[in-house]
Amino acid sequence: MLTRSPLSREANSGRDRRIKENDSAILVGARAAERVSPQATLAEVGRAAATCRACDLWKTATQTVFGEGSIKAKIMVVGEQPGDQEDRMGRPFVGPAGRLLDQALAEAEIERSQVYITNVVKHFKWGPAERGKRRIHKKPRYSEIQACRPWLDAELERVKPEVLVCLGVSAAQALLGKDFRVSRQRGQFIPSSLAPHVIATVHPSSILRAQDDESRHQQLEAFVQDLRQVARVVKRSVH
Ligand code: URA
Repeated sequence: MLTRSPLSREANSGRDRRIKENDSAILVGARAAERVSPQATLAEVGRAAATCRACDLWKTATQTVFGEGSIKAKIMVVGEQPGDQEDRMGRPFVGPAGRLLDQALAEAEIERSQVYITNVVKHFKWGPAERGKRRIHKKPRYSEIQACRPWLDAELERVKPEVLVCLGVSAAQALLGKDFRVSRQRGQFIPSSLAPHVIATVHPSSILRAQDDESRHQQLEAFVQDLRQVARVVKRSVH
């Protein structure tokens, strides 16, 4: 359910058929998130996010990549921002980092159906490669993370996960504070009002960047260990 705005009245008078036909169009503007009613469903929030202009990243991204998964998911996994493939496909974690995440979840015996996956920033931030056509990932700024925060809050309010998992420094610092250090505090449950159990671990992209096979293997194993802790908490809460 979307809250009414002056634009929606225009739509009702028939002056703007495009707006009438597409309720998300009434949310185009700087602060689409603020116009979403607290009663809006997750799907409605996702449609509103598709029109978000709260920062400039929409200008160079293909589309908003909203979270994906069941509203009943016990686990919410939060990454940094969509990558190149996610931007093209409009779905989170479907590129190389997503495939590694899937593998680690499977090894930790967590089913994808138990997980809602999203990002702190919902547009791909990139710059052109020095040579060639590749789009190079750029780290989001604090202001961009803040601009996108209402969407993540809306997801948290609706999914109400039992366990919240932050992947990498951007997600961890956005949700747990700027002083959070993934290198020191990964794999520990952190008291937080965001969910009953909150934990941070590395981002799967960092494992893909490992220097050699041996360190990649070790880093993957440590990542799986962190996810096993999540699996244990969820199993305890189910029984
Ligand atoms: N990295 C992220 O943080 N999120 C994605 O969706 C993909 C890659």
